[in-house]
Amino acid sequence: MKVVLGVSGGIAAYKSALLLRLFTESGHDVTVVPTAAALAFVGAPTWSALSGKPVATDVWTAVHEVPHVRLGQGADLVVVAPATADLLARAAAGLADDLLTNVLLTARCPVVFAPAMHTEMWEHPATQANVETLVSRGAHVIPPASGRLTGADTGPGRLPEPEAIFAVCRHLLAQAASPQASSPQPASPGPAPTPGDLVGTRIVVTAGGTREPLDPVRFLGNRSSGKQGYAIAARAAARGAAVTLIAANVALPDPAGVTVHRVESALDLERATQAAIDEADAVVMAAAVADFRPAAYASTKIKKTHDPADPDAAPVIELVRNPDILAGLVRAGGSARRPVIVGFAAETGDADTDVLTLGREKLARKGCDLLVVNEVGTDKTFGHDDNMVHLLRPGSEAVVDIGPAPKAVIADAVLDAVRDLVDASAPPSPL
Ligand code: C5P
Repeated sequence: MKVVLGVSGGIAAYKSALLLRLFTESGHDVTVVPTAAALAFVGAPTWSALSGKPVATDVWTAVHEVPHVRLGQGADLVVVAPATADLLARAAAGLADDLLTNVLLTARCPVVFAPAMHTEMWEHPATQANVETLVSRGAHVIPPASGRLTGADTGPGRLPEPEAIFAVCRHLLAQAASPQASSPQPASPGPAPTPGDLVGTRIVVTAGGTREPLDPVRFLGNRSSGKQGYAIAARAAARGAAVTLIAANVALPDPAGVTVHRVESALDLERATQAAIDEADAVVMAAAVADFRPAAYASTKIKKTHDPADPDAAPVIELVRNPDILAGLVRAGGSARRPVIVGFAAETGDADTDVLTLGREKLARKGCDLLVVNEVGTDKTFGHDDNMVHLLRPGSEAVVDIGPAPKAVIADAVLDAVRDLVDASAPPSPL
């Protein structure tokens, strides 16, 4: 398909050469439209050689082909990466002072911006207002990742990795090619989620399973792989949310554009969650948190013959209760506006009670805004790529069944519910 890759003048322009390769290697016809400032970072020969096409920054080159109109009109997708603060401002204002801004005005296809700049510039109200304007007009904005910036400083502002930008673009191109084919799955109700619908939403996700240390080599743990929590964090970031992921003992790569804190025990997870939720709009507690921990931690390895009086004796390990972090968040919020709180209930059910009954009891006990119930067992859910869940809301008998479906599809359905709850809890507009 026909893609226009806009490149504006930031140091991250070098990463767009890799993005260009991802497009061309998957068979797309890419025209690169750099701004004049972008060429100060990566020169025209690089763009021209990699795309196999001439490169222009202004509207005065090859005028007989009317490129300032033709390129935008003919594109199936326009992606600007990196999008600087200046480019976002010019696009939001509708200026047409170079070839790229002309393309943006004439394009009727999906348009994606991947901003990259220093944290102060990204967080400035002017930039945020420009992003809101562009999103309100239907553009997709992939929020910058947090991490090392050009100098020694760190913070939100990094261009997400080319693979992450490419994933959003591929999704949009698939939608454009076949609006039906790219719907998440028949299992997921409602239309396909739009990348960008969570821009401005701050979400904290916990994932994985805690380990409660017994001695320097042993712990009490559980089978959670973290895949479902990671899928929620990754999809939330792809849809534009600012995501903090608190990962307990997960052997998965960090999702693109997500701030990740790694923790081990339930007490670590509690501290990290409380530190992260200050400004959060929603907290999704997908982690399997141990309910108990050893009452005492042995600072040296517990010996097999730990009792000299009885060398065959097995040690007795006393356990104490861990705090219920989720219930604590609900209590701390009180009746004042608090983040939307989502709990997970991994249930096996038993001969007398099915998982939904157990789920309803848990929802009442925890007091959260949404409970995601899934049936677990050694042959189900843990470590698998597919999942099946039921969504329960307080005060409603309705059950929304999602799946069996890939964990990314389950993630989108949970995020749709989170978005609706966040929207419903927002203070009314003064207008
Ligand atoms: O009570 P149960 O462990 O089944 O509840 C599961 C939900 O509660 C999950 O969302 C989990 O993250 C959260 N939880 C918690 N603190 C605990 C135990 C579970 O926040 N100590």
